[in-house]
Amino acid sequence: MNKLLFIFQVITNIALAIYNTTVFENTQFLDKQNYYQHVDSIMKQKQNETNENFIKRGRRFIQQNQETHSLRITYDIFKENDQIITEELQTYIESLLDTAFSYYQSLLYVKHIDQNNTFYLKELNNCLGFLIESDHFVTGIEESDLHLYISFKQSDTDIIASAGHCYIDPFLQRPTFGRILLNLSYFQKINRTNLQFFRDLQSIMHETLHILGFSTASMNYWIDPETNEPYTFKNVHKILKQKMIDDREVSVLSSANILKTIRVYYGCESIEGMLLENQGSDYTKNQHWERSILMNELMSGSSNPEGGVFSLFNIALLRDTGFWDVVDENQANPIYWGKNQGCQFYENKCQADLKYDEFEDIDGIFDCSFTGEGFGVSQTDPFSDDCPIIYPTDSQLCINYEQYQQPYKIDNKYQDNLMFNYSTQSRCFKSTISLDDSAASFANFRCLKSFCNEEGTQVTIQIDQLQIDFICKQEGQTLLVEDGTKSYGKIICPKSFPRFCSSFQNICPQFCSQNGYCVKGKCHCNRGFFGNDCSQRCNEENEDGQCAIKCPPDQYINPDRTCSKDCPQGYFKNSESKTCEKCDFSCSKCNGPSNQNCLDCHILSYLKNNTCVSECGEGYFKNKQSKQCQKCIEGCVKCSNDKVCEECDALNGYIQSSNLCKNTFCDSQCLTCVPHQKEKCTSCSQDYYLDKTQQTCQDSNNCPPGYYSDYEKRECIPCDEGCLLCKNSSYNCQSCDETKNYTLFGNKCFQLINCFSPCKTCLDESNSVKCATCVHNYYLQGEECVEQCSIGYYLHENKCLKCNQNCESCINHSDNCMSCSQDKQLSNSKCYSKCMQGQIWVNGFCVDRPVASYNAVIQNRVLSAKNNQFQLLILCLLVLIALI
Ligand SMILES: *[C@@H]1O[C@H](CO)[C@@H](O)[C@H](O)[C@H]1NC(C)=O
Ligand SMILES: *[C@@H]1O[C@H](CO)[C@@H](O)[C@H](O)[C@H]1NC(C)=O
Ligand SMILES: *[C@@H]1O[C@H](CO)[C@@H](O)[C@H](O)[C@H]1NC(C)=O
Ligand SMILES: *[C@@H]1O[C@H](CO)[C@@H](O)[C@H](O)[C@H]1NC(C)=O
Ligand SMILES: *[C@@H]1O[C@H](CO)[C@@H](O)[C@H](O)[C@H]1NC(C)=O
Ligand SMILES: *[C@@H]1O[C@H](CO)[C@@H](O)[C@H](O)[C@H]1NC(C)=O
Ligand SMILES: *[C@@H]1O[C@H](CO)[C@@H](O)[C@H](O)[C@H]1NC(C)=O
Ligand SMILES: *[C@@H]1O[C@H](CO)[C@@H](O)[C@H](O)[C@H]1NC(C)=O
Ligand SMILES: *[C@@H]1O[C@H](CO)[C@@H](O)[C@H](O)[C@H]1NC(C)=O
Ligand SMILES: [Zn+2]
Repeated sequence: MNKLLFIFQVITNIALAIYNTTVFENTQFLDKQNYYQHVDSIMKQKQNETNENFIKRGRRFIQQNQETHSLRITYDIFKENDQIITEELQTYIESLLDTAFSYYQSLLYVKHIDQNNTFYLKELNNCLGFLIESDHFVTGIEESDLHLYISFKQSDTDIIASAGHCYIDPFLQRPTFGRILLNLSYFQKINRTNLQFFRDLQSIMHETLHILGFSTASMNYWIDPETNEPYTFKNVHKILKQKMIDDREVSVLSSANILKTIRVYYGCESIEGMLLENQGSDYTKNQHWERSILMNELMSGSSNPEGGVFSLFNIALLRDTGFWDVVDENQANPIYWGKNQGCQFYENKCQADLKYDEFEDIDGIFDCSFTGEGFGVSQTDPFSDDCPIIYPTDSQLCINYEQYQQPYKIDNKYQDNLMFNYSTQSRCFKSTISLDDSAASFANFRCLKSFCNEEGTQVTIQIDQLQIDFICKQEGQTLLVEDGTKSYGKIICPKSFPRFCSSFQNICPQFCSQNGYCVKGKCHCNRGFFGNDCSQRCNEENEDGQCAIKCPPDQYINPDRTCSKDCPQGYFKNSESKTCEKCDFSCSKCNGPSNQNCLDCHILSYLKNNTCVSECGEGYFKNKQSKQCQKCIEGCVKCSNDKVCEECDALNGYIQSSNLCKNTFCDSQCLTCVPHQKEKCTSCSQDYYLDKTQQTCQDSNNCPPGYYSDYEKRECIPCDEGCLLCKNSSYNCQSCDETKNYTLFGNKCFQLINCFSPCKTCLDESNSVKCATCVHNYYLQGEECVEQCSIGYYLHENKCLKCNQNCESCINHSDNCMSCSQDKQLSNSKCYSKCMQGQIWVNGFCVDRPVASYNAVIQNRVLSAKNNQFQLLILCLLVLIALI
């Protein structure tokens, strides 16, 4: 790559939008309209030229079947002579650029051209105001598909970087030159922590994506799949429309992939297009995803404390540009904002009747953030359409393990006693745990180290101070933190495991230590580095610049150049090279390199015979749960589930029979039969049930002994073991096989075995022995025989049965209370609460239920406590008391 440092005059004119969060912006260094009009007019002339060499570079001269290769991004860095860039800063910037571009290199694939990448617009001589080296008009740049000019601006506006393309090759029909402008003051000032690098990397990736096609300026050049030509200014309205929503003019992007993706993602079939940001300056508005419906996406209008996710939205957009031959969806990370929330969410956001976890009701609420990566106070931001969202400050970010001053580190005691842990593995939990009682009533949020199991069905929380793991098995479950001697408080488990666990896909160990990028929880290390956090230098490099690694026989080289028995999602184990290799782009999981080795598919496709297809074809339907193409029932050519056929295969003798298809060749009770054997049924007509042993169809009373006729399946289904006669279901038994010592209890058959007094007979139920009947003068209570029913039970026909839950004890009947618990009083053999409505019983008194005052308390305090850490601590204390 070219990495020259030049002295150059930059002409810029950047407008800005300011808020607490940093605003990205793009394109406009010059008057946008004029610049692109100018380019267009020159391009038209160019297209008229018959310079063969020039035309040969064109897309149409690149063979259809030519292989695609990684996108090669080259760049030059320039500085003005009054700009002070230390060697250290230059290394930092180069590392950012190299990492960002290596990400795009594994995301985008194009057909290479043999020639140099050349800027054929000598007439223009600048790239968005940046004067171009004359070489680039003539000889061009070797080994380059996209060349970027990087320069700096010392400026006062609230912008990290800005960017735009400046040349879309008229024959290749994709951007080949662009420009990124970096805020030098910003980069001089920041502390270069790993988290900071992670955020700056996202800024560069964000700006690069503007160049790659995400800008209103480049939409004119997107390729219309209907004509295979650029939309041009005249037709761009086909995909980009202006609408009025609630007095706000909004832009709606409805290109094909975007449209399909958002309908599936939000779970709303009626969406007409994706909303683009409707607030902010001209440089932000319409150039980003709308914040309120897609908060933590990389292409949101401003950076946010937890960073942005490169998600399937950007994949869909890049596909819709038509610029890039392959966009590898396996490079996307998961996002959950608004996912499956339906039309209401999309249309009304926080103003909807339903309450969504994405938003708080009002500003000033203290809560864990949506991703769980931190906690903080809700605020509306300039892009969130008046919706309050939790914004953790840097010190409230659980993942910010490098922060010099943690919130409660003012007094070290607090943080330790509250068992806080800041690490890339830490997340926010609602919790009251503390080591000593003095700190107990502190805040009710904790950063705790945690991880998910592979299936995402379990969250484990590790607390170093107690050296105990706590396991969440259910969403929203309350864990009591105890170590056998002492109780330390509670932890509330995450509300949604999939959402919570997805965060670990976005945050890699130590943010990859400034030496790589993170995809699906795995670091992809830059050349020269390896390790699960990319922190180690290679001892030896391969030809391709990657660390030479040798793995033990049963292990494979992962993207982070470590050895592991497994490969990450989107990779398969190549047993020859002992390396995790990329799946075919069509698969999201696979067991080999081809498009016929898929095990799972991306959002818009379905698995059919190990390939991923977008349409399942005749005789199949799309099973949205399993993401597979599933066969319609026999004889059906068109269906949308396996219950109802919409069109039967008339050509092969099938006719509609209620919702199913009947083969007219088979006997009349059969719906379908064995080929050429009309009497051997494989399924039955209505009101008949298949006897599989005989391959006949029976009416409901004629299933063989030990079978019942299953209405749903239209089959004779065997009863449970030991049952001779069952009705409607296999476990609803009416008589048991006594020759084998089975006896009926309730409606189940149990095999009786010998056992010991006071049990008379016992049940052998999945290896645990339980009493079935009792010896004389003993009564069966649950699975035990007792002499006397326990408190809370009453005697009925030699059995002890449970009292109604309101009674403490009862007699003869479950509702006939004899005594009540402390908080209730007895009246007319019933127990009534002693407290009034809205009150609860605490330690012998009725007190008002505290929950209602929760929001109010926080709201009042936070607003007056903003910049004051001490007051914030008091606030937390109040909140906690209110919750006890
Ligand atoms: C930014 O946040 C600070 C507190 O962190 C607050 O005082 C200030 O008003 C906020 N800025 C804006 C523009 O809301
Ligand atoms: C292109 O060439 C044709 C004929 O050679 C000419 O009529 C036309 O004006 C040219 N167009 C432009 C934009 O130069
Ligand atoms: C391509 O670029 C290289 C270096 O910039 C130059 O040496 C070479 O001559 C160029 N090739 C062509 C065909 O212009
Ligand atoms: C550049 O960064 C500095 C320091 O963060 C900031 O004060 C300034 O507003 C930024 N300027 C631009 C152009 O964004
Ligand atoms: C950098 O870190 C120092 C402490 O190490 C801190 O005082 C300063 O505020 C930090 N600067 C920024 C821009 O975060
Ligand atoms: C947090 O966890 C990390 C990783 O296990 C550990 O290195 C660190 O010491 C812990 N910090 C605290 C304050 O417990
Ligand atoms: C499934 O794919 C294999 C090859 O990949 C092919 O031979 C076979 O016919 C296919 N089966 C069906 C039912 O399409
Ligand atoms: C059996 O199931 C059918 C429908 O599922 C129902 O109508 C019928 O009442 C059930 N019969 C018995 C005995 O439970
Ligand atoms: C049934 O119980 C009797 C008496 O306990 C025993 O002799 C017989 O072997 C049992 N039969 C079976 C099939 O287990
Ligand atoms: Zn932007």
